[in-house]
Amino acid sequence: MGRIMGERLVRRLDLERAILSIDPHPSPAAHLEQYTITPEIAAQILFIATYTNDHIIGKRVADLGCGTGRLAIGSALMGAKEAVGVDIDKVATTTASKNAEKLGIKEKTQWVTGEITVIKGGFDTVLQNPPFGIQRKNADRKFLRKALEIAEHVYSLHKSSQDSPELINKLARNRTQLIGAAPSPFLNGLVERCGGEVIAVYTMLMTIPRMFNFHKRTRHQFLVDIYIIERKASPTQ
Ligand SMILES: C[S@@+](CC[C@H](N)C(=O)[O-])C[C@H]1O[C@@H](n2cnc3c(N)ncnc32)[C@H](O)[C@@H]1O
Repeated sequence: MGRIMGERLVRRLDLERAILSIDPHPSPAAHLEQYTITPEIAAQILFIATYTNDHIIGKRVADLGCGTGRLAIGSALMGAKEAVGVDIDKVATTTASKNAEKLGIKEKTQWVTGEITVIKGGFDTVLQNPPFGIQRKNADRKFLRKALEIAEHVYSLHKSSQDSPELINKLARNRTQLIGAAPSPFLNGLVERCGGEVIAVYTMLMTIPRMFNFHKRTRHQFLVDIYIIERKASPTQ
């Protein structure tokens, strides 16, 4: 898989299949919001970052809160020079490392166990699916701050404020369609205070299986927004 990807245009279905083959976390923890990005959303973000914006091929990429490594491994498969994943949970980084080996891109990846604060600058791009702050309020704020401190281009996934059944149905019928959205005033302000600018926001459909005891349904579908952000200046806070 490592051989074919990064050397020619990658088919979206091949990328989704590769991401789907990534082994899951054996014991996800609710308080760390350890659910996994879907292959469809990961591929969508990676395609925009790689082919629309040229932010992946030959670049240094960081995945903050990498979990099992889907975004970091995906960026290595798409042709990143190096992909670094960091997660506070050792089981997650160990699983990610094994996954990178399994997919043949071990030498292009590094896995760091620790708080995202341990990561220092020098990246071109951050791809991240941070905790949404459902278990720990505002958990995604420090991820955004860190991302803009260490990279020029940031792709950050956040829970959408929209809850429209029509939009959910529309995206369920066609997951690859790009639906633009306005940034939340709060996240927009935070990005600006961190020296960034929100370039675009697209709404996508996230599906997570029943993982924790408090989940009532067999799967949960909700809307998420991918924020595409550029760093314009040094952070002011
Ligand atoms: C929503 S999961 C996303 C996992 C993976 N990026 C994905 O999309 O499949 C968030 C991840 O962030 C990690 N995490 C939460 N707080 C963290 C922190 N302060 N520093 C580093 N990692 C953290 C969790 O352990 C979890 O794996």
